[in-house]
Amino acid sequence: MESSASYPNAATRPKRRHSVAAGVDRMLAPLHRWVWGDFDRRIQKLLRFGETEVDGGRDILRAAEVTRDPLLRRLYLLHAVDEHRHGLLFRRRATDLLRVRPSGLKPESSREWLPSSGHGLDDLRVEEETDDTMLAFLHVAEKAAASRFTVYRDVLQLDPGTRAVFEDILHDEVFHMNYTLTQLVRVSPERHRWNLWRARASRLWKGYLRLATAVGGIIGTVLLTVQYFVILPPFAWLAKRAERRERPGWNPIAPDRNDSLHKQY
Ligand SMILES: [Fe+2]
Ligand SMILES: [Fe+2]
Repeated sequence: MESSASYPNAATRPKRRHSVAAGVDRMLAPLHRWVWGDFDRRIQKLLRFGETEVDGGRDILRAAEVTRDPLLRRLYLLHAVDEHRHGLLFRRRATDLLRVRPSGLKPESSREWLPSSGHGLDDLRVEEETDDTMLAFLHVAEKAAASRFTVYRDVLQLDPGTRAVFEDILHDEVFHMNYTLTQLVRVSPERHRWNLWRARASRLWKGYLRLATAVGGIIGTVLLTVQYFVILPPFAWLAKRAERRERPGWNPIAPDRNDSLHKQY
């Protein structure tokens, strides 16, 4: 399964250390170090990554079913097996960390503003893609994952076990990144650049929407908090003042308001 013979017309899996991190991910390394530095957050991220990888593997399996290209079908099947294996590796590592944790996990807080997990394969709509758009999407997603996982591996010096998981998975991600580009050029020699730009633009747009949603949520929380502490207190004070003027107990009402009801309101 791991040999180059399993991947016709594609690059072999690299066995060296990789340095495919993009500039932005390198710049965000201190943020990633902070995110992964917290033990509970690390477990939660590993669990979430496990879920994303297994889901991604399922989508790629579906892509293998729908493609009419026999070579792509074979590559997709092997790719899906890889993603499933990554999911299991992440889950296993999360379970190992949970075992050494004295008490239960803290509930996960909302952190949409943090960098997303590697692939973004969850954005995939297999039925709507053709072979070339699918390969372009996968290439961009795998390249992002390889870049992000390189930085994760580098910031995890204090946790050799988790670092080893990323090191292992990184071999596959770099291979996925390479084979998808090779195959894209094969199936779409004329339009592969256009497809790549389209996939990049779509990924950027979805990233922007995610960020805008998170920022909108933060702004909403701030505005509601300000309203609660600044606008509500005068009304509460007026209500209390009106309450003090009310006579206690049952009070007679004016005769003109004492008719029997003719309608509901
Ligand atoms: Fe993966
Ligand atoms: Fe991958």
